[in-house]
Amino acid sequence: MTEGRLMRWSRRWPPERVVPLSFPIIGIFIVVLFVNIITPSQQPLDQPPTAPSSTLERSDAIKAAFDFAWDGYYKLAFPHDELKPVSNTPGTSRNDWGATAVDALGTAVLMDKKNIINIVLEHVAQTDFTHTNTSISVFESTIRYIGGLLSAYELLSGPFQRSVPAGFNLNILLEKAVNLADLLSKAFGEGKNLPSGMLDPKTLQGNGENSLAGAGSLVLEWTILSNLVGNSTYANLTQLAQSFLMNPTPKKAESFPGLVPTEIDIASGSFLKGTVTWGGSADSFYEYLLKMFVYDPKSFGLYRDRWVQAADSTIRYLASSPKKFPNITFIGRYGQNGFIPESGHMECFAGGNFILGGTVLNETRYTEFGLRLIDGCHHTYASTKTGIGPEQFKWEPNQCQQQQVAPTWSCDGPQNPEDQAMNNASGIWITEPSYNLRPETLESYYYAYRLTKDQKYRDWAWDAWLAIDKGTRLENGYSYLRNVNVPDDQRWYGDNQESFLFSETFKYLFLIFDDGDGEWHVSGTGTNKWVYNTEAHPLRTKKFYERLTK
Ligand SMILES: *[C@@H]1O[C@H](CO)[C@@H](O)[C@H](O)[C@H]1NC(C)=O
Ligand SMILES: *[C@@H]1O[C@H](CO)[C@@H](O)[C@H](O)[C@H]1NC(C)=O
Ligand SMILES: *[C@@H]1O[C@H](CO)[C@@H](O)[C@H](O)[C@H]1NC(C)=O
Ligand SMILES: *[C@@H]1O[C@H](CO)[C@@H](O)[C@H](O)[C@H]1NC(C)=O
Ligand SMILES: *[C@@H]1O[C@H](CO)[C@@H](O)[C@H](O)[C@H]1NC(C)=O
Ligand SMILES: *[C@@H]1O[C@H](CO)[C@@H](O)[C@H](O)[C@H]1NC(C)=O
Repeated sequence: MTEGRLMRWSRRWPPERVVPLSFPIIGIFIVVLFVNIITPSQQPLDQPPTAPSSTLERSDAIKAAFDFAWDGYYKLAFPHDELKPVSNTPGTSRNDWGATAVDALGTAVLMDKKNIINIVLEHVAQTDFTHTNTSISVFESTIRYIGGLLSAYELLSGPFQRSVPAGFNLNILLEKAVNLADLLSKAFGEGKNLPSGMLDPKTLQGNGENSLAGAGSLVLEWTILSNLVGNSTYANLTQLAQSFLMNPTPKKAESFPGLVPTEIDIASGSFLKGTVTWGGSADSFYEYLLKMFVYDPKSFGLYRDRWVQAADSTIRYLASSPKKFPNITFIGRYGQNGFIPESGHMECFAGGNFILGGTVLNETRYTEFGLRLIDGCHHTYASTKTGIGPEQFKWEPNQCQQQQVAPTWSCDGPQNPEDQAMNNASGIWITEPSYNLRPETLESYYYAYRLTKDQKYRDWAWDAWLAIDKGTRLENGYSYLRNVNVPDDQRWYGDNQESFLFSETFKYLFLIFDDGDGEWHVSGTGTNKWVYNTEAHPLRTKKFYERLTK
């Protein structure tokens, strides 16, 4: 139950992985989750009467929305992990260490919200990250808590020193991150080099399973932790794990150069079957190959080489357009029966990641591909009744019109009339209609804006925000939306407000409307002083950090 729940809410675990494995668990889970559904007759609050349009007004509106969501969380759920905005009760999905508070901290620093900074720092200082009653996700704890603590340290000891409350010792942030990393280290087990995905807090045993993203996206935070505290233990553990994922065994597991399946055997370090995807269970593995190189180009050339191989194979094999929409590009998937013309909201981070690669490596083929992917994600938003892109969707691939070569693309069209109508109008149809306050499309708009300075991306971000605010805002916060393709008066809400709304969705929205040129911004030219973890927590690159501290 607990794991099913954690997995369902995890951004990186796709529903199709969970459903067939644990149908009864999911059944119970769905009942629990939607027991508090708001009926269509209950309307959300009125929206602001006029839509602001200048960049400054947009920026102010994002800050006001952040305040609104923080106030609801603080009033009804702090210091627990998140607000359940339908029942207005606290959630404890992240071991009850205050996930929303920690995730909100860096955004509050960038937005200059001293009151929130003070509250969260005091909370962190009092939190015992070595104890919990519930099963611990190594990946989620790393990206949300360790990432959030390190980023707050980097921001507050760097460009935002003026925001540190009098008398507060920033080293507390590093101590707490070390406490948590020491606990999570138990998931690596005796004599094993890959971590389990989940750790039992009583026995300190791992569950013996993990995914590509779960094992392969710890290395950025743990390497930076090691460098900040001067103890190579954390870097060594995760870099050794990473070495298995970058030199895959068996060799045939590497379906295309650089692309590997999502499932691994942690005892042997070898790959099992599973789908090749840039979506859930894989996404941040590819993301971090590049970001390790951005963090420290001197030490992580091999990581760059593996990213380049994965990126080139993706452009060559996985890119696909709906057959009547040649301008729209998506990243499909590859399974045991061939290519799958299905993608989802989580894949939408890839546009930004390709732009980062293109700028850092000075390769326009990556920036151009990234911009095309972003057109595709924008198209998914523009194609629904709420203006919010769906969790998962399919298309009839252009490859079906070409000479068929093995392995082939699945060419099935939609079955029911509603899907057929959507496919006729927009070249896609929805296979999972929810929206979980996800940031990926906004994240990619931010990278595209930093590269091109094209106002279009700011307008797309604003349109997306208006749709999200209209579609998910309740009395005390924002909620999971069950279906992005129903009219306004039929909206149904799931009772959860993910902590990443605060670290990612609000941060990327704030950054895209920020006209300043702070050092923490993503560079459009490839000379980044900071790198963002997969939870959007900014961290200083090694060279920049060392130059400052010498
Ligand atoms: C953990 O369980 C103990 C004993 O049941 C209880 O006192 C404590 O409040 C629980 N802690 C959390 C964080 O739920
Ligand atoms: C580094 O961290 C590990 C794990 O906490 C600890 O056992 C070791 O003593 C530390 N080494 C130093 C030099 O502090
Ligand atoms: C980490 O690895 C480096 C390089 O192999 C080694 O010099 C160092 O002693 C290791 N650190 C620990 C704590 O084992
Ligand atoms: C595709 O893009 C080209 C170049 O931007 C544009 O001229 C054309 O109208 C677009 N076609 C469609 C179907 O959107
Ligand atoms: C980037 O690539 C272009 C085209 O290959 C080249 O002209 C330019 O000098 C390169 N810039 C840098 C900074 O390496
Ligand atoms: C979709 O388009 C096809 C081909 O033009 C047409 O036969 C079909 O009736 C359309 N279906 C719907 C539901 O609009």
